[in-house]
Amino acid sequence: MLYIGVDLGTSAVKLLLMDETGKIEKIVSKEYPLYFPNPGWSEQKPEDWWTQVKAGIKELVAEADKSKVAGISFGGQMHGLVVLDENDNVIRPALLWNDGRTTEETDYLNNVIGKEKLSQYTANIAFTGFTAPKVLWIKNKEPENFKKIKKIMLPKDYIAYMLSGVHCTDYSDASGMLLMDVKNKCWSDEMCEICGITKDMLPKLYESFDAVGTLKEDVASELGLPASCKVVAGAGDNAAAAVGTGTVGDGMCNISLGTSGTIFISSKNFGVDKNNALHAFAHADGAYHLMGCMLSAASCNKWWMEEICNTKEYGKEQEPITDDKLGNNHVYFLPYLMGERSPHNNPNARGTFIGLTMDNTRADMTQAVLEGVAFALRDSFEVAKSLGIKIERTKICGGGAKSPLWKKMIANILNVKVDVIESEEGPALGGAMLAAVACGEYASVEDAAAKIVKIIDTVEPTEELVARYEERYNQFKQIYPACKPIFDVIK
Ligand code: XUL
Repeated sequence: MLYIGVDLGTSAVKLLLMDETGKIEKIVSKEYPLYFPNPGWSEQKPEDWWTQVKAGIKELVAEADKSKVAGISFGGQMHGLVVLDENDNVIRPALLWNDGRTTEETDYLNNVIGKEKLSQYTANIAFTGFTAPKVLWIKNKEPENFKKIKKIMLPKDYIAYMLSGVHCTDYSDASGMLLMDVKNKCWSDEMCEICGITKDMLPKLYESFDAVGTLKEDVASELGLPASCKVVAGAGDNAAAAVGTGTVGDGMCNISLGTSGTIFISSKNFGVDKNNALHAFAHADGAYHLMGCMLSAASCNKWWMEEICNTKEYGKEQEPITDDKLGNNHVYFLPYLMGERSPHNNPNARGTFIGLTMDNTRADMTQAVLEGVAFALRDSFEVAKSLGIKIERTKICGGGAKSPLWKKMIANILNVKVDVIESEEGPALGGAMLAAVACGEYASVEDAAAKIVKIIDTVEPTEELVARYEERYNQFKQIYPACKPIFDVIK
């Protein structure tokens, strides 16, 4: 049998075809535009996602035996707000996970409703990118649109809806809406009331490995797939990536270096960081996880390479950064190009180079960008350590994981062993694995991970580099507090 995994990302949708043994048959990627209509705003058109998913599926299965495609599932960019009217038309472009326009609504939730209550209702506090503040933003700033809302959904759930006609979501992705009681895995009455919505506007909740239905007849014939093909709930992209890297069960860690950067720690039991600096979410394996999310990770390097240095030769630019340079760079970069979520929760934070002298080169600045992202990941890692969580090794995935240099920096800045997986296609592979579990190929998500995911290499930290980077990190962590008052002025 064949399974399709759809990774509905921010710059593109990646589609992956996997057979029942976990072998990847084909990968296809289709881009769509990202709109920044105002500073700090970030939007996409759900119709673009749908067009490109359909085009991608057709290309993906073009040479395959289509009758064998048994299931399709997803890893989707989280927190985005998609709103449909009574005729199922998209009311306005989706507000994405890295959209920072909701400062007023976020402040209202955290300070007027209060963080304690939010944490009690949902296990989390409000961040500008989360879905509930966006619902409030539409209510406050676009009341005409708010009145039209009949269905609220997350990005990947729009695709599941178009494929199957079922208004559904899964626990991992719904955790990031700030509308779900994560511990008890149900919608929160209190949060619905606070946001002025009713529960019937929200999708039905499923486990990530549950089939929600099958393809609609017309969609099946357009795509050339069997109408019996199961549409499986899927997961938020980080939980799906964790499945794709085998980060399931208790106490495992995965780092994702995509547009965002995340540290994901799986846990059998529900737990909350008492300061809510880390998100307490449900996992796609049926259990829970803690996660720190930085808003710009590999996207900082993409910005630096493509927008500023005007090149796509990432590898060549990293060549001059030899071992002797590591831990010896006095240029620092704060990677807050879209503000920052974990752990600072500050949409006004900005990207910053500091420490430049006349002898500095472009390579020093490239190094600072890569190191700045790794140092900022360490900020969330430190929060996890302060909760008593011991992490000795981590998996890694996402576009940034292709760089051996970046993996070495992360191993030494975090002082962890970095396990390299055979395939870095985290969310797309995770999506295909969830589809295979729903179709009965594997007994559970853990079983699928144990049989499919293979570690091919491990990057070990060295005592000398860890010591050098420790000193640098101690300097790095003083820069944000010093710059914070300035960020508040230049916003
Ligand atoms: C997680 C988050 C991002 C997006 C990126 O909380 O906001 O990782 O899911 O797609």
